[in-house]
Amino acid sequence: MNAHVPVLLEESVRALDLRKGEVVLDCTFGRGGHTRRFLEAVGPTGLVLGLDVDSAALLAAKEITAPNFRFVALNFRNLDIALRTAGIEEVDKVFFDLGVSSPQLDEAARGFSYRTEAPLDMRLDKDLVTSAEELLQQSSEGELAQILWDFGEERWAKRIASFIVLARAKAPIKTTLELVEIIKAAVPKAVRQAEDQHPARRTFQALRIAVNDELGALKEGLEKGLVALKNGGRLGCIAFHSLEDRIVKQFMIHHARECLCPQGLPQCVCNHRPQVKLITKKPLVPTPDEVRDNPRSRSAHLRVIEKLPRFY
Ligand SMILES: C[S@@+](CC[C@H](N)C(=O)[O-])C[C@H]1O[C@@H](n2cnc3c(N)ncnc32)[C@H](O)[C@@H]1O
Repeated sequence: MNAHVPVLLEESVRALDLRKGEVVLDCTFGRGGHTRRFLEAVGPTGLVLGLDVDSAALLAAKEITAPNFRFVALNFRNLDIALRTAGIEEVDKVFFDLGVSSPQLDEAARGFSYRTEAPLDMRLDKDLVTSAEELLQQSSEGELAQILWDFGEERWAKRIASFIVLARAKAPIKTTLELVEIIKAAVPKAVRQAEDQHPARRTFQALRIAVNDELGALKEGLEKGLVALKNGGRLGCIAFHSLEDRIVKQFMIHHARECLCPQGLPQCVCNHRPQVKLITKKPLVPTPDEVRDNPRSRSAHLRVIEKLPRFY
């Protein structure tokens, strides 16, 4: 199994402007790659609180024995509760490194990978009630097509949905490779044989996002992260696909805007004040060397904002 190599590590430390003694909330602990580097940066007088929904992350967290590290096993959409549990009121920095880690992808039993045979589970949090198998079994053809289109931007969403419905009428679709075969049968030969992209990539992404309500959790987590930040504190987020990155970008631009009035009004009536300034006008992306050493980093986009003083 591949170890998880943290992405844009030094870029994250620099863009967050981490300093000794600071309190950092790492919303996506994973295997602790970023957390370990954050602990170094804030030193023994600082504190890092890690969150993750994955039970394997909890085991990895137990390996970090630093007295200034805490871990709470919660979805970051509930980061306010996690902070309360840890007795922390405000933080200097909030960080998200979205998606799944390499060991999660490699652990066949999780069902995230379209390359290895496994039950169609895809739940990051085992307490969630609906697995990918159940979602495929229970959703209507229209709902399935919508999921594949909305969360996978899959061009062949309708055809794949109709092939899924035909297949499940014969027998429930239980494993990753059964689903891959159905997708391959539904898409045109050119898509099936394309070398740059696996034909099941978008469908698997869509199902994972739907099963875990990843985009809903991201919207809630970002808003709550901003509330938890001290004035002058920074929030950074690494996204790996355009759906996530669009949400992060829109959230940051919305809170950085001077005015929220509809276009065309002769003067501002909303009295909105920007809450943040953009630290990264454009997202930071990995260097060619990082992409060569860790191909998983190739689509990473890091965006960072800083919370403005209240009386700006
Ligand atoms: C890309 S990995 C993070 C890797 C980590 N930065 C490291 O260097 O080891 C993303 C992690 O976020 C977790 N995750 C995804 N969505 C989450 C959510 N809504 N709440 C908490 N954790 C989440 C996943 O379980 C996974 O462990």
